[in-house]
Amino acid sequence: MTSPYRSIVVLTGAGISAESGIQTFRASDGLWENHRVEDVATPEGFASNPVIVHQFYNGRRHQLQQPHIRPNPAHSALARLEYEMSQRPDHKFLLVTQNIDNLHERAGSRELVHMHGELLKIRCAESGLIFEHRDNLQVGDECRCCRVPGNLRPHVVWFGEMPLEMPRITRALDECDLFLSIGTSGNVYPAAGFYESAKSSGAHTVELNLDPTHSHFDEHIYGQASEIVPAFVDRVIRQLDPLT
Ligand code: OAD
Repeated sequence: MTSPYRSIVVLTGAGISAESGIQTFRASDGLWENHRVEDVATPEGFASNPVIVHQFYNGRRHQLQQPHIRPNPAHSALARLEYEMSQRPDHKFLLVTQNIDNLHERAGSRELVHMHGELLKIRCAESGLIFEHRDNLQVGDECRCCRVPGNLRPHVVWFGEMPLEMPRITRALDECDLFLSIGTSGNVYPAAGFYESAKSSGAHTVELNLDPTHSHFDEHIYGQASEIVPAFVDRVIRQLDPLT
């Protein structure tokens, strides 16, 4: 019998990094409880008060680089699933994350899209050039490409801006036969609509989350990501074509 799964798309959200010590957005102690989205996550907020915006992302950038912030077994399981898919001819895998942390890549994921940007990168608002950046960013910092102070901004997607690499994501959703949504509340589009696109491509859709959301997946698995994701990945790997 051949495997039903030849093309897998996985969407992750803040819940997969919660057990690594990174706050989610919409929990009672989440990031959006203490910050107004309009102030720190919109182009208008940045235009009217860049100091607050830089403070917010500087704090998060600093936290991400603390030694205790590490990938957890859920991140590692997805890297393992990607590896297993890569060992089989004509199998495809894409991990799409809404997270701006770097825990997926640190766990070994490579076929990865950061649709909401990356915390450890900044970019020039004029040229669009992207730079690695691990330190604080201040309003007056001179841009590395145009030398203009104030042109640099976090390389994150704010509300009202277009998520990154949408054509690649759409292509993968069009041809996937398994779609997993992990640790996301399904509040933010377009990501919240991916499972419907996958369904219309005929994919089996599975939600793995701590709490039920309002989305109608074919299968729901509730629990801590560090427990349910490795167990589910083991199940999928057992169903893949045997290695020859
Ligand atoms: P949310 O904070 O909205 O949702 C996190 C989800 O993870 C919730 O449904 C939780 O139940 C679940 N969760 C929490 N801990 C978990 C655990 N240990 N294991 C499994 N699940 C767990 O975060 P996102 O859905 O990622 O966008 O938010 C989506 C987008 O909204 C973010 O990318 C960000 C935000 O505004 C931008 O900033 C553009």
